[in-house]
Amino acid sequence: MTKRIAVYPGSFDPLHNGHLDIIERCRTIFDEVVVAVLYNEVKKPLFTVEERIEAIRELVGDTCRVESFSGLLVDFMDRVGGNVVVRGLRAVSDFEYEFQMALMNRRLNPRVETVFLMPKEDYIYLSSRLVKEVFALGGDLRGLVPDPVLARLRQRLRPGAPA
Ligand code: PNS
Repeated sequence: MTKRIAVYPGSFDPLHNGHLDIIERCRTIFDEVVVAVLYNEVKKPLFTVEERIEAIRELVGDTCRVESFSGLLVDFMDRVGGNVVVRGLRAVSDFEYEFQMALMNRRLNPRVETVFLMPKEDYIYLSSRLVKEVFALGGDLRGLVPDPVLARLRQRLRPGAPA
């Protein structure tokens, strides 16, 4: 039987508990999971791709592969032999963009299917953008962001502040 290889792509700038929850769910469904971190300097990321990969690897250990990619996602799918793209769907507002991407990816590479997974309800309002904004303004993100990521946010956004 063909191995079911899922690719979970994103910016992960930074990874939060909603992402981790989706990764956990993927692991119960697919034979292999590849977390794919997009190189996209246009978005002016807070963390480099290498920093994001290091943080994700620290959290997932050897349960998943963590790789970077640039260019089209469907080409990356071919390179890693992935057959399913996994995306987290938090709310109806995510749907339109995700629907467009899924159909475009299928048009570009009919071999690739997209599967949507819903994170735990506790995380449906979480986004990397909000995480950065709330943290920079002094908000408490415990329980929403894994500790190694919190430590990196502290170093980057509140250097010198007490932990
Ligand atoms: O976490 P994000 O930023 O919402 O992830 C978006 C991502 C990385 C899945 C998307 O931007 C992507 O796949 N980019 C790669 C370029 C590509 O294939 N574009 C066409 C998508 S239809």
